Parts: sequence; C-alpha cells; structure tokens
Amino acid sequence: MADEMGIFEVMYHCRAMRRLQTRDVPEELLVKLVDAANQAPSGSNMQNGRWIIVRDPNVRQQLADLNRTGVEAYIAPQTGSANALPHQSADKRSRMLDAVIWQMEHMHEVPALIIACMEFGTKVDPRMVAASGGSIWPGIQNLLLAARALGLGATPTTLALMNPEAVSAVLKLPETMAAMCLIPVGYPKGKFGPVSRQPVEQIMRFDTWQ
Ligand SMILES: Cc1cc2nc3c(=O)[nH]c(=O)nc-3n(C[C@H](O)[C@H](O)[C@H](O)COP(=O)(O)O)c2cc1C
Repeated sequence: MADEMGIFEVMYHCRAMRRLQTRDVPEELLVKLVDAANQAPSGSNMQNGRWIIVRDPNVRQQLADLNRTGVEAYIAPQTGSANALPHQSADKRSRMLDAVIWQMEHMHEVPALIIACMEFGTKVDPRMVAASGGSIWPGIQNLLLAARALGLGATPTTLALMNPEAVSAVLKLPETMAAMCLIPVGYPKGKFGPVSRQPVEQIMRFDTWQ
C-alpha cells in the first residue's frame, strides 16, 4: 500500500514531480492532503494557513497564465546556458529547467492546483508576508509528504505568485489574505525516485561552525 511507506522513505523520495497526468484526483484525497497540511505547527499556534483547491478550468488557466509570466522571466537569462550549481551538474539543471518548462506548458491541465494562503487578520502588507513564511511552509511540506505517501506528484512553486494583486484577483482573496505557494497535484507521468542532496557532512557541524 502506497500510504504505508515509512516516514523516512517518504522524506527521501519526495522529489518535485512536475510532469503530471490529466487524470482527476479523487476529492477525498485532495482534502486529505490539506488535512495533513493543517496538522503542521504555526507561530504562536495562530493556525492562520488557508488552502484553496483549484479545479475550475477557468481559474486554473488564469493561474497557468500567471505562472507562464513568472517562468518566462525566470528562465530568460539562462536559456541555452543552463548554468550548473556547485552541487548540481549542468545536465541535471538543464533537465530541471525542461521540467519547469513542461509544467509551464501544461499547468492548466493539471487536475488540482492547491494554493497555500495565509490569513493575516488585517490588510496584507508585503513585510508581513515576508516575515511569516515560517508559519505556512511546515504545512506545505506536510502536504508534499502526504502526496508522496499517497502516490501523488506535487511541487512547491512560487513563480506564479510574483504578481500578488493579480493572484488575489484570480482567487478572490479578501484583503487580509495572501497566497504563499502554488502546488500542482496529480498522478505522476514518470516514476518516483530518491532526492539528490549534498552529503550531510558538508552541510552540518557540531557545536559551532568554524
Ligand atoms: C520556496 C520554493 C519555491 C519554489 N518555486 C518553484 C517554482 O516556481 N517552480 C518550480 O517548478 N519549482 C519550484 N520549486 C521547486 C524546487 O525547484 C525543487 O524543490 C528543488 O529543485 C528540489 O527538487 P527535488 O526535490 O526534485 O530535488 C520551489 C521550491 C521552493 C522550496
């Protein structure tokens, strides 16, 4: 059973899955993902995460259009040169960019776009948004892990959210709410595999850094 994977197996195999099938995801599974997200901690236990599951084709198309604008700006300087990072070969980076472009072309067809939002209780101000990510990203990670455990593909994305006014208009957010992350969810086209990260001894020290 997919949902009997151990927690460590899930964490070590929770890759960004951008190529997704158009097949619908049962509503109960989508709600289960958000319920899992909602178990995460928040600063002062504010519980101010809010979640929108977008299935309406018209709303998906508008979000896909915003994502296209964000992705085009993101890839523009790199096109053709797919720069390697110290920990990521040029080949791997170029494959990641291919997947980002695939997602850009197909986002409107993905069965569900889950938007992680926050409710601030007062009119949203960009400084509040910048300072409050710590209270929504644990929930986003819970959602990604739950999706992986259920055999669903997902990716945390932010490029579609670069124009907050446009996003708020599409999602009809009140002025007290902000969208923090867009997570396309569906059954994966390809296979799940292990994540590839820097070895722990390179990114960890005991007691002090130097
Ligand atoms: C804050 C944040 C923003 C991200 N934004 C995007 C995005 O806009 N588009 C996208 O395709 N992936 C996005 N990602 C996914 C990352 O590219 C991905 O998690 C990273 O490359 C590791 O992928 P892997 O787990 O498959 O190795 C984002 C991830 C994070 C944590």
